[in-house]
Amino acid sequence: MSRSKMDKLKSLAKRRGYIFQSSEIYGGFGSCYDYGPLGVELRRNIKNIWWNDIVTSRADVVGMDSSILMHPKVWEASGHLENFTDPLVDCKQCKNRFREDKGVHKFKCSNCNMKFRIENGEIKSRKQYRECFDDLSASEPESYIDSTCPRCDEEESIYLDKIACPKCGAADLTEPKMFNLMFKTHYGASQDSAHEIFLRPETAQGIFVNYNNVANAARQKLPFGIAQTGKAFRNEITTRNFIFRSREFEQMELEFFVRPENSEEWHEKWIEARLQWYKELGIDEDNLQLREHGDEELAHYAKSCIDVEYKFPFGWSELEGIADRQTYDLQQHIDHSGTKLTYYDQKEERHIVPAVVESSAGVDRTMLTILADAYWEDEENDRKVLSIAPKLAPVKAAVFPLVNKEGMPEIARDIFNDLQGNLPVKYDDSGSIGRRYRRQDEAGTPYCITIDSQTKEDGTVTIRDRDTLDQVRVHKENILAELEDRIE
Ligand code: GAP
Repeated sequence: MSRSKMDKLKSLAKRRGYIFQSSEIYGGFGSCYDYGPLGVELRRNIKNIWWNDIVTSRADVVGMDSSILMHPKVWEASGHLENFTDPLVDCKQCKNRFREDKGVHKFKCSNCNMKFRIENGEIKSRKQYRECFDDLSASEPESYIDSTCPRCDEEESIYLDKIACPKCGAADLTEPKMFNLMFKTHYGASQDSAHEIFLRPETAQGIFVNYNNVANAARQKLPFGIAQTGKAFRNEITTRNFIFRSREFEQMELEFFVRPENSEEWHEKWIEARLQWYKELGIDEDNLQLREHGDEELAHYAKSCIDVEYKFPFGWSELEGIADRQTYDLQQHIDHSGTKLTYYDQKEERHIVPAVVESSAGVDRTMLTILADAYWEDEENDRKVLSIAPKLAPVKAAVFPLVNKEGMPEIARDIFNDLQGNLPVKYDDSGSIGRRYRRQDEAGTPYCITIDSQTKEDGTVTIRDRDTLDQVRVHKENILAELEDRIE
């Protein structure tokens, strides 16, 4: 999908009521989004499927819902106060503030003087040298320093000449300063620093601090998991790419507690299960991959982390992280709170600190993935389609009278009323039948039911499939069973 297709997806999402820019009538509020009638249903479906697969259908996982505001010491213990930071630089010329790695990295070869730059993860060079870079990737600009020049082959000849502002191009920047990504607010009436608290940047810590409460109340034995979904907030510096990275978003997190010696085995199991989960949402397997974090990006507490990545219109990017976090989280809270967050091992007759395998997914990224993967343009039939899997589709079927006369609307209304208590359905009698089909194709509605003159004769209706355009005639008494069958 080209960049312009991403723009088309954005405008479809607005037109059909999936996603709106926050505070649009005031000019919009940066990287915050509102979800409209179809958007909110899609999100509920994503979360319900996740909850059902992770919690309801498993005996070894229980759910919880912790508060967004937590004791400030939580963030000291978790390491967020110290480590949840980005290095920021200011451009002295145009005053633009940006993440250091988002600057334009200008390189030069000390032997042949060839110059190239890395901008937004892309290598830019003069046309005549472009083929020299065919085999290189620009994901880590610093790794180019001292490498062999791809043009003259001179070893260790590449050096970083300058870092420039991505907005105005000036190489006149301040030294980097660390900027914490947590949103600050104040607890109670006092505005002083003693009352400073943070909006949670992840839901996971709410689970760790409740480890004893949940484990005791639910009488869980290792291995077991605690899951929750909820809002998280990060004062992201680089947003962009629609709802991919926003400042307010929703997570679906599972913390699975295991004996430390079993963490590798459970990490493997969860990686496989989570990749499979996305495939079962109907996402094209060719657009999904697993990527292991290298040593340099691995969080200090994690032994290993694998991202499930999706091939978004702007490139492969993280959809979810699955990490073997060892005993770090519980041990940190034990050390900072003085509370024993341990498991009594009956066999060994001693307390152990469980290790944790985490699956951390984003509702918003899953939603963007579903929309991007589902969007296509059917040129032959002049329509834009969202081929969302029926089980995820916000509206399962639309009911139309072919024309607004000859008793068809009355039959259509009855059918609609019967279906409505069982499935999310829509009634539409405005405009030509072709336009009504197209509206539902764009909205991602998998089935359209049309009542025509034959319905009056033999009680049958047509059911049209959004993706294949196949139409079958079904007796009106059997519509619900037919739809339920197809949605399954
Ligand atoms: N507890 C671990 C944790 O929070 P993370 O990789 O920082 O790990 C996990 O975030 C997931 O949360 C990401 O894979 C993504 O789906 C979602 N996420 C993180 N930051 C986000 C943002 N700014 N906007 C939207 N989703 C985000």
